[in-house]
Amino acid sequence: MARKNILKIASYIPGKSIEEVQKEYGAKQWVKLASNENVLGPSPKAIEAVRKELSKIHLYPEGPCSILRQAISQKLSLPEKRVVISNGADNLILMIACAFVNEGDEVIMADPTFSVYANVTQIMGGKPVRVKLKECTHDLEGMLKRVNRKTKLVFVCNPNNPTGTTVSRDSFHSFLSELPDRVIVILDEAYGEFVEDPYNPDGLDYVGKKQVILLRTFSKVYGLAGLRIGYALGREDLIHCLYQVRDPFPVHRLAQAAAVAALNDEKHAIRSIQMVYEGRRYLYQELDRIGLSYVPSQANFIFINFERDSEEVFRGLLAEGIIIRPGKTWGYPTFGRVTIGRRVDNYRFIKAVKKIIR
Ligand SMILES: Cc1ncc(COP(=O)(O)O)c(C=O)c1O
Repeated sequence: MARKNILKIASYIPGKSIEEVQKEYGAKQWVKLASNENVLGPSPKAIEAVRKELSKIHLYPEGPCSILRQAISQKLSLPEKRVVISNGADNLILMIACAFVNEGDEVIMADPTFSVYANVTQIMGGKPVRVKLKECTHDLEGMLKRVNRKTKLVFVCNPNNPTGTTVSRDSFHSFLSELPDRVIVILDEAYGEFVEDPYNPDGLDYVGKKQVILLRTFSKVYGLAGLRIGYALGREDLIHCLYQVRDPFPVHRLAQAAAVAALNDEKHAIRSIQMVYEGRRYLYQELDRIGLSYVPSQANFIFINFERDSEEVFRGLLAEGIIIRPGKTWGYPTFGRVTIGRRVDNYRFIKAVKKIIR
């Protein structure tokens, strides 16, 4: 009875939750380094805002998220018509596919990258066209070569999940200038706040000028992954298409209130970014000492080569109360993706890795 396209879709495999591993391994002092959440937790201001909003949950939320939309547009100096908010970047990716992908259209993406891009393409009956990473980074030239009459979208995940790499501003610029105007680029900056590389393209430079839809989320630096809220920015005509397929009330009251508060809590965002910078340096230094290689990252996670079956490392770490993401799902069976934690979490992780590989 189902549409034939949906039966072929490989389901999304999320990082294991603490609740899940607790059933198998019992109560421990768990630390989850598997889903690139903010290990510092949410902004205290967001928690307070949720508390205040709780007594109103019998009322429907405000559909277009006007207060938040206004706050984002002011912060980024963009007209409100270029902003659309929904329940997580995941949902916006689905909305993009619903709005633009027809049966038989091709959608170009890196391999490996965030798997939701391929899933939504298949839901709509489109064809994912995967272009292998080059030195763990998007091969923009290779992606350009795959553009043809059927190409509708190109996803550029910057920094890329799972490798944490970024494209250079120059290469992105020439990629955009050679791309036909009818092909839309989805620039996913879910981890954009953690980038230190000064040569990284800033998606905001393209919003409104090029056929770019920029994706951002409150799940990472703002620590609101459990509330599900993210936004897309782009030219009015493109954003209008996303409104055409948007649910009437996709973002609940608590998420809207928390996001407004989190957006105004610069202190918490800066602390979270500093934690990632510091954690990256500490982990690089310790991994170098152990002799394990890794992909230098611009995100809040590191893709590490454990040089052995990473499922084994994953299980060994679980026994130590640490959850990571083994790399088999991305075709890198000796790698694991590890979220950068607080100093104490990173220290625990390194100690456990040393024990396991010994
Ligand atoms: C690259 C990328 N884009 C989008 C998302 C989805 O973000 P959200 O939690 O806002 O749905 C993720 C989540 O991990 C991600 O890694």
